[in-house]
Amino acid sequence: MTRTPTLILLNSLRLSMRESVTKTEVSDFKNKWCDENQIISTIIKNELLEYFAEPILDVGAGQGDIAFTALHEKRVICIDVNEVTDKDYPLSEFHERIQVDFFDYNPNEKIKTIFISHTLQFLDEEMNLLNEKINIIDPDTIILVLNKNDDFLGDLIDWSEQNFVNPNPEVKVPGFPEGYTLSKTVNFKADLRCKSFSDLATQISYLMLIDLNEDINSELVHFLKMILKEPGFEINQIIEIYSKNES
Ligand SMILES: C[S@@+](CC[C@H](N)C(=O)[O-])C[C@H]1O[C@@H](n2cnc3c(N)ncnc32)[C@H](O)[C@@H]1O
Repeated sequence: MTRTPTLILLNSLRLSMRESVTKTEVSDFKNKWCDENQIISTIIKNELLEYFAEPILDVGAGQGDIAFTALHEKRVICIDVNEVTDKDYPLSEFHERIQVDFFDYNPNEKIKTIFISHTLQFLDEEMNLLNEKINIIDPDTIILVLNKNDDFLGDLIDWSEQNFVNPNPEVKVPGFPEGYTLSKTVNFKADLRCKSFSDLATQISYLMLIDLNEDINSELVHFLKMILKEPGFEINQIIEIYSKNES
């Protein structure tokens, strides 16, 4: 994410880079079109609960639905730059919501676990700042959920990089998190399935953090129709658990 507002206007096929997503976009992707959050929640509940020591900081929690479903009885602080309320999604009595930018957030208790699910692309513009912030909070464990980009999504990223000015998809960041060692991974597949190719193009613009205009929408739809029989595809994803290096 670029932390100062940027607008790049080139020609009609070129696009402005986006820096954020609205809560409606997050909720549409997660609730209408993609089953990733149900799968992530089930994996956490069944296999990974022991790694989530409390208190847990859910960074860019969105609706907070993963925490609500999988970490219901654990103490979780759900932070997000968007204002999300209990009307948008219910909150467990053990959780709290704070509307704040991660880089401005200073916990008033010792955080044991940082959970970053599909939010790294918003935080990784300045890696020094991110590693510094993580090192100040100093959790024992960091748990990331990331797209692997080794599948059709990887092809889409290549296509986007050729056709868009500055896409910002979620990619693995080498050297992050600094001072931590990968101790466990869980691979899984999620399904992104829409009613139309135009809806799918909209969801891809959300994933790549770009604004669609009519021209690029039809180019993207054309590209998708060439490759896919139906408006949907699987996304290979990974949960990575990092433990703090012994000092
Ligand atoms: C793709 S959504 C992921 C939501 C949730 N973690 C999930 O997996 O369902 C990314 C979220 O990160 C939030 N976000 C982006 N930049 C942020 C920042 N600097 N600090 C806190 N939240 C941020 C967005 O508002 C959005 O809700």
